[in-house]
Amino acid sequence: MKIVRTVDELMATLGAWRGAPGAIGLAPTMGNLHDGHLGLVDALRREGARRVVASIFVNPAQFGPGEDFASYPRTFGADRDRLAARGVDLVFAPGIEEMYPPGEPLAARIDIPELSSDLCGAVRPGHFVGVLTVVAKLLNLVQPDLAAFGEKDYQQLVMIRAMVRSLCFPARIIAVATVRDADGLALSSRNQYLSRAERAAAPQLHRSLAEAAGSLRAGGDVAVVERAGALRLQAAGFEVDYFAVRNAGDLAPPTPGAGPLVVLAAGQLGRARLIDNLTVQFDTAAS
Ligand code: PAJ
Repeated sequence: MKIVRTVDELMATLGAWRGAPGAIGLAPTMGNLHDGHLGLVDALRREGARRVVASIFVNPAQFGPGEDFASYPRTFGADRDRLAARGVDLVFAPGIEEMYPPGEPLAARIDIPELSSDLCGAVRPGHFVGVLTVVAKLLNLVQPDLAAFGEKDYQQLVMIRAMVRSLCFPARIIAVATVRDADGLALSSRNQYLSRAERAAAPQLHRSLAEAAGSLRAGGDVAVVERAGALRLQAAGFEVDYFAVRNAGDLAPPTPGAGPLVVLAAGQLGRARLIDNLTVQFDTAAS
């Protein structure tokens, strides 16, 4: 496994690969890798990637003032070992100045205004502009045939798909199912901020989503389901940012008969901001 820190080194390695046959896959990450991240690598292989590039970059542009950019766990040695064991070919771990060249006052930024201030964007202003802009940079640099993103960050996935479609990036986006602990808590680098008592309460996030999905499948009213979910999370000690039911495809407010829904929730539990979601398929054949 090769490790490169600069755009020039990245280009040199990719240039040598591009002459050869075989799809190139990209798994963008901020490091501190767990089995959820490693699932992206496996998904790229399953979908036919012959070469897999993983990027590790804690992107300052997607953290707001007062958020955890400075304290975000940076564990490069362990990450490198896990990626090597998973058969990754190339790790791109740039410094900030590689991704954001200094002395560049006219920097472009990518926005999807319909979604960037919604849900997580309402609580984290500027977050999604930071995410889309860095993902666009990575797609431009690596020019992968496939790029994998987790369903865990569902709004991020929907927005990246929309960006790729509307800006005509040639990459195919692969959505990867959320990897969870045995009690349902979605794996996240931020879970390590939880105290023991908070960790015991954290699976309520997944449970409240599962309950909401069940109620919706049974014909429950959207507003009632949203309120019940938020109350359940509050009772478990969360400071709730939102508990929302949306169309799974575009995150618009649900329209009857418009296809699958997604239930999304986010909240602060102690020092950790946790997010999760579940898609709700309706068994149309039965009705
Ligand atoms: P990060 O939080 O490191 O996550 C990297 C990728 O792993 C994302 O696509 C995320 O959805 C996926 N992921 C995280 N936890 C997961 C889990 N439990 N199961 C499945 N997939 C999981 O998301 C980011 O970084 C950044 O915003 C990034 C896209 C790299 C841009 O900076």
